[in-house]
Amino acid sequence: SVAEIGLIGLGTMGGNLALNIAEHGFQIAVYNRTTEKTGQFIEKAGDLAEKLVPTETLEDFVAAIKQPRAVILMVPAGEAVDAQIEALRPLLDSGDLIIDAGNANYHDTNRRAAEAAEKGPRFMGIGVSGGEEGARFGPSIMGGGARDAWDQVGHILEAISAKHDSEPCAAYLGEAGAGHLVKTVHNGIEYADMQMIAEVYGVMRDGFGLSAAEIGGVLEKWNGGILQSYLIEISGKVAKTADPETGRPMLDIILDKAGQKGTGRWTAIEALMLGTPASAIEAAVAARNMSARLDERKAGEVEFGVAPTEMDREAVTIDALEAALVAGKIICYAQGFGLILEAARQYGWAMPLPRIARIWRNGCIIRSAMLNDMSSALADDAERNLMLAPFFSEKLKETEASLRQVVAQAALHGLPVPALSAALSYFDIMRTSRSTANMLQGQRDFFGAHGFERTDKAGSGFHGPWAMG
Ligand code: 6PG
Repeated sequence: SVAEIGLIGLGTMGGNLALNIAEHGFQIAVYNRTTEKTGQFIEKAGDLAEKLVPTETLEDFVAAIKQPRAVILMVPAGEAVDAQIEALRPLLDSGDLIIDAGNANYHDTNRRAAEAAEKGPRFMGIGVSGGEEGARFGPSIMGGGARDAWDQVGHILEAISAKHDSEPCAAYLGEAGAGHLVKTVHNGIEYADMQMIAEVYGVMRDGFGLSAAEIGGVLEKWNGGILQSYLIEISGKVAKTADPETGRPMLDIILDKAGQKGTGRWTAIEALMLGTPASAIEAAVAARNMSARLDERKAGEVEFGVAPTEMDREAVTIDALEAALVAGKIICYAQGFGLILEAARQYGWAMPLPRIARIWRNGCIIRSAMLNDMSSALADDAERNLMLAPFFSEKLKETEASLRQVVAQAALHGLPVPALSAALSYFDIMRTSRSTANMLQGQRDFFGAHGFERTDKAGSGFHGPWAMG
């Protein structure tokens, strides 16, 4: 046995991850269910082929890896992972390690970690972000599982990860499903980030009547400022690209029905289950669900007429849109980090928030300049709502009026901005010490004698003098 590590699943992500590992000097055994794919993969690997050990059976694959073995799975999330673990279990020793690098639901990872503790081999779930290119040239890696398992392979994961100022964007974040939960929240934030960009695109397209290319120019300019991020960068590129077939802007011919594989939805579900607000992320998931109902939307347009009308350019400027995005982004990250913090509390996982912000600074889809400031703010105080960190509270004070103006004007002109609206409502609730939940408590007590606390007396379980019936 010569290989330092093994990898199963030579799809685009798995293949690229294997090449990345090989390029960093680690001998790696590879296996794919369809053997043909392994052959094609090796043929295309060029010079890196000498670091790759192709295998045709699971037995040969396992035999090719040095002990204690580490095996990365990059197979479709769900049943395929369980099936692969079952197939490997009799071939591996209890001290060996299986690493699920797919986009697993962290509840599955928790279950698999518990099963591994009972039956062996050891198990780790790692979130890998950065798409195809990230996998090949440096992803962000969010590790979860037993600490000693991370210690066994951490040097390889750090070597292949993206770097920010030479610091690896890979870290151990906590037990069992901690890494996959953080990856899920990463994707939830990704959904909200993307949706808010799509919303300001909508204002520019339908409210301002700008062309895709003009919008591309605006996004390109924003990418040179506080909003600098991978998602703004690629959105600008998407907007500026023309369809080679028709010459029309790509954006004008892409059907407006958004796909989703589930991680954004899981984030919203987890936020609801953990009882922590993630309204901007929830709105982004709902927006994708609404986008998918194209026939209903068409019927709605026939019934109610086309809503969007041109906006007053004096009321909303391009700068105001930029500021609204800044505010929305801060709020959505405050919610995302709040979710991770709550999960850390409820599960007793380490979840070092500043470290998470640091490993998101490069390699992953949500990488951005602002994450650098977020990591400093969280290092200062990880328990505080990000909105209250001095740097971000200043930014919110500067941008709040623009967010309000954009949401208000968009509403007046029939332009949907659900994620930005959700962010604004969160902001308005979270800066109000006297909310309207006293009415909810009154209602609950009226119909169900659920009891309430009073503002003028200590204690709980007070009831109102409601007359029945
Ligand atoms: C990443 C991406 C990646 C993938 C998601 C997107 O971090 O590299 O998030 O995991 O693109 O699967 O999921 P949707 O299909 O749900 O948009």
